[in-house]
Amino acid sequence: MGRIITFGSSKGGVGKTTLAYSMAEFLKRKGEAVCALDADPNKNLSGWLAQSQLVEGRVVQADDLVQVANAMAESHSFVLIDVPGANSTALINAIDISSLVLIPTKADLKDVVEAFRTFQHVVNAITKARRFSPRAHIPAAAVLSQVDRRATVDQAARQQLTSLGVPTMKADLGLKASINHASFAQKPAPYAAMSDDIEAIGVEALALLETFRG
Ligand SMILES: Nc1ncnc2c1ncn2[C@@H]1O[C@H](COP(=O)(O)OP(=O)(O)OP(=O)(O)O)[C@@H](O)[C@H]1O
Ligand SMILES: [Mg+2]
Repeated sequence: MGRIITFGSSKGGVGKTTLAYSMAEFLKRKGEAVCALDADPNKNLSGWLAQSQLVEGRVVQADDLVQVANAMAESHSFVLIDVPGANSTALINAIDISSLVLIPTKADLKDVVEAFRTFQHVVNAITKARRFSPRAHIPAAAVLSQVDRRATVDQAARQQLTSLGVPTMKADLGLKASINHASFAQKPAPYAAMSDDIEAIGVEALALLETFRG
């Protein structure tokens, strides 16, 4: 059975789709069978995947997400889910069936607060799952995104996340002009521009999955 990874936040514009696309490329480069489900009506991820043909991408309605993701996990080692940037049914359904939830957040208090709200959905999902399986767990971590290496505000964001009890990845995704340019041209993020950051995030994500494999 493949692992399902959700890239979710109830906040818009935090880097969910960029991270989902980049992780698809990271896993594909490792030889994994990856498919991506786009549960955002804006269809950014599926648009990028249609252009690049990187991995199979499908647009999915929120109500169909659980069934489709489970079916795709039968034939793929990883199913990646991108959701809208809102507190939505898609977000909650995706978290319920995830093996891992990554919560991108910019170093901005509004984003951090929404990362906390999103993490509460993970806590709720674990509580639901434990009614049937007492050791059930869904690992989750905030991932700082669009980090300006010249500023120190990411440290403040990390402290805030810690004080809110939200686990946070050590690795983060730096702010890259080329990602912004690509997005403006409706093109996917160029892997070469961020491969070091994505590989560090990918390694940490795989370690989280291994820790909680069960
Ligand atoms: N590391 C980065 N460096 C520079 N720009 C970035 C980076 N990550 C994301 N962006 C830009 O920030 C914007 C939002 O990114 P993205 O679409 O990935 O966020 P999102 O959370 O999926 O947004 P939405 O909630 O609208 O779906 C885009 O213009 C994207 O190109
Ligand atoms: Mg998006």
